[in-house]
Amino acid sequence: MRGAQIREPGQPPTVGHLAALEAGPDEVLIEVIAAPITPLDLLCASGRSYFGVPRTPYVPGVQGVGVADGRLVWFPTDAGMRPVDGSMSAFAVAQRSQLVALPAGANPTTVAALGLSAVAAWMALRWRGGLAVGEQVLVLGAGGAVGQAAVQIARHAGARRVVAAARSLEAQARAAQAGADAVVALDTDDVAVLADRLAEACEGPLDLVLDPLFGPAAAAATRVLGPGGRLVHLGGSASETAPIDSSTLRSKSLRLLGYTNNELTDDQRREALTAVVDLSLAGGLEVVHEVVALDDVADAWQRQASGTRHARVVLTPLT
Ligand SMILES: NC(=O)c1ccc[n+]([C@@H]2O[C@H](COP(=O)([O-])OP(=O)(O)OC[C@H]3O[C@@H](n4cnc5c(N)ncnc54)[C@H](OP(=O)(O)O)[C@@H]3O)[C@@H](O)[C@H]2O)c1
Repeated sequence: MRGAQIREPGQPPTVGHLAALEAGPDEVLIEVIAAPITPLDLLCASGRSYFGVPRTPYVPGVQGVGVADGRLVWFPTDAGMRPVDGSMSAFAVAQRSQLVALPAGANPTTVAALGLSAVAAWMALRWRGGLAVGEQVLVLGAGGAVGQAAVQIARHAGARRVVAAARSLEAQARAAQAGADAVVALDTDDVAVLADRLAEACEGPLDLVLDPLFGPAAAAATRVLGPGGRLVHLGGSASETAPIDSSTLRSKSLRLLGYTNNELTDDQRREALTAVVDLSLAGGLEVVHEVVALDDVADAWQRQASGTRHARVVLTPLT
């Protein structure tokens, strides 16, 4: 079968002929239809993640959509986090207990583009962040896959106003397309300037921030949060650190919360994935994506790494 492999940490995958797979006990063999390239895939393959240096060679891909036992399913893998292979090949093996059966009408590439990005947005806003009807929400990095999903999910959950913030003009356009009430440019690292812009875009108290960036944008967002406001932090796309003021945190009794998909139970992940697919089928959720043949994975991987792609890449392996 054809598949992509990381041969050396930090290098993009190469495509070649791989040995046929066999499912072990409690596992299932899946014919892969669609597999996204996400920041987690790159982080794991870099050898610099908190999962350590991966065993090589391995097939990357922490999630995918395919056919198992005649059913369309979404599946997660631990590729790059443990010594197992992932989704970026014609066939993959997954834990049977972790499969999510997809409803009739689900589009494999649409679901693959949403996947764990939308699960993170859903759980970080609604579960970790406790989003309540009528609250005002700020989504940072709103042009990314997590951010686009978060704008739409916040609206669906009953937020009264959804403010988005994004870096490039293309990312700002994606945030607007996702339905944000206002879009703020993150084109400076000046925390005071960003805080002024965010405050101007908000109407009344800001209750909840979804933060996949950290850095100056997260620090600015804390300055704009109202008393008792929450910031759910789930990614460091901008920076590993953030210049957050002690006085800002304590004077408003703010709550800074961390979130990772990796702590979800199989049931939580299945329920969240099912909810986002249902919302998508109802026309309320989509992230901009580009479909790329598996043979072109190296180029697409490099574009994701350098930030020069403008949409979530979804690979379509061919048997
Ligand atoms: N904790 C979890 O369970 C979990 C789950 C999913 C994702 N994540 C994390 O969440 C983050 C976002 O994921 P994603 O899938 O949305 O990634 P993505 O689709 O690649 O989007 C990343 C976004 O970050 C923006 N960005 C990058 N550097 C920036 C900077 N210095 N200032 C402002 N914006 C910047 C990019 O803006 P441009 O478009 O302008 O380049 C892009 O829109 C990643 O760090 C990922 O690892 C965490």
